[in-house]
Amino acid sequence: MRSAAIEGPVLGLEASCDETAAALLAPDGRILAEAVRSQLAEHTPYGGVVPEIAARAHLAHLPALATEVLARAGVSSDQLGGIAATAGPGLIGGLIVGSSFGKGMAIAHGLPFVAVNHLEGHALTARIPGLVEGGVEFPYLLLLLSGGHCQCVAVEGLGRYRRLGSTLDDAVGEAFDKSAKLMGLPWPGGPALEKLAQTGDPKKFPLPRPMLGRPGCDFSFSGLKTAVAQSIPKLATEQDRADLAAAFQYVVAAVLADRARNALAMLPGATAMVVAGGVAANQGVRAALSGVAQKAGLPMIAPPIRLCTDNAVMIAWAGIERLRAGLTEPLDHAPRPRWPLAELTGPDAHQDMGA
Ligand code: KG4
Ligand code: ZN
Repeated sequence: MRSAAIEGPVLGLEASCDETAAALLAPDGRILAEAVRSQLAEHTPYGGVVPEIAARAHLAHLPALATEVLARAGVSSDQLGGIAATAGPGLIGGLIVGSSFGKGMAIAHGLPFVAVNHLEGHALTARIPGLVEGGVEFPYLLLLLSGGHCQCVAVEGLGRYRRLGSTLDDAVGEAFDKSAKLMGLPWPGGPALEKLAQTGDPKKFPLPRPMLGRPGCDFSFSGLKTAVAQSIPKLATEQDRADLAAAFQYVVAAVLADRARNALAMLPGATAMVVAGGVAANQGVRAALSGVAQKAGLPMIAPPIRLCTDNAVMIAWAGIERLRAGLTEPLDHAPRPRWPLAELTGPDAHQDMGA
């Protein structure tokens, strides 16, 4: 693989959904400064992310966040070695804000520009130096469990991803959010539902376990959500609500564990099971998945929560991995609201093409 020197710290920019974030990483991957601004307050009145509001908030806050991380690290724009901005998948307004701002900085300071796939950011987070002792080697299994994504991915190398399975309907975080809403909990529902579940009995409400025992590692959560909806009229007491929350979380954890087991069987030679996305914050889910990894004799790696959820550290790191491999994009690169991981290429593909 070609290896290119990176001339200075890399600025990562993330604005693909409802977190505005900037981070500065040294060329060796050390985190120099990071900042995230959640748009929770803007979207809560609507019970979900409003794309137009998100784009405007990114525009209002991203430049200040970039300036803030540079100032905190004592680095000037002229000293940067590259700009890495999320260019998809995600909400197009935010993607345009983030990547245009990044390209503007790249032009102004004559820097290389990397258009980062947000999912590749999640996929490579476990490789940030210092996170896991000794590092994580390819290939490994990635379970991406967030509000927008729910996939089992074979991470075989930089730019080399194979989707082993994904959701047929709702993402797992979406299932948490929708079920929580049905139970009258505030948005985003995942953390609230987990808290309520702590005092519940998971066996009181028999809920279906979608896909459990089926071959492969696809997911389906819409039937479970419907079962939760049908249970709502049966709730008489606060304890009933806690029991339903506990049953929901128990079933989700069991289904995720079953799917993860099959996914590992589909990737012989995996060095680890990596879990990312907001749902990886859930203790019940973590415990179930860690049991699966342990049985397979593999480490389960769950990055710290702040790096599991949307952030710019992962975008800067993916940028560094790509810059090292000599992979940059021209400044007319267009952001892509849909951009499956399987469509990415790495250094090998470029060599094959004679680059
Ligand atoms: O990765 P993330 O911050 O954003 C994207 O969706 O990209 O994930 C947010 C999702 C939401 O659906 C939220 O309800 C869920 O992760 N979540 C949780 C927990 N914390 C966040 N779900 C279950 N238990 C939690 N503790
Ligand atoms: Zn994400």
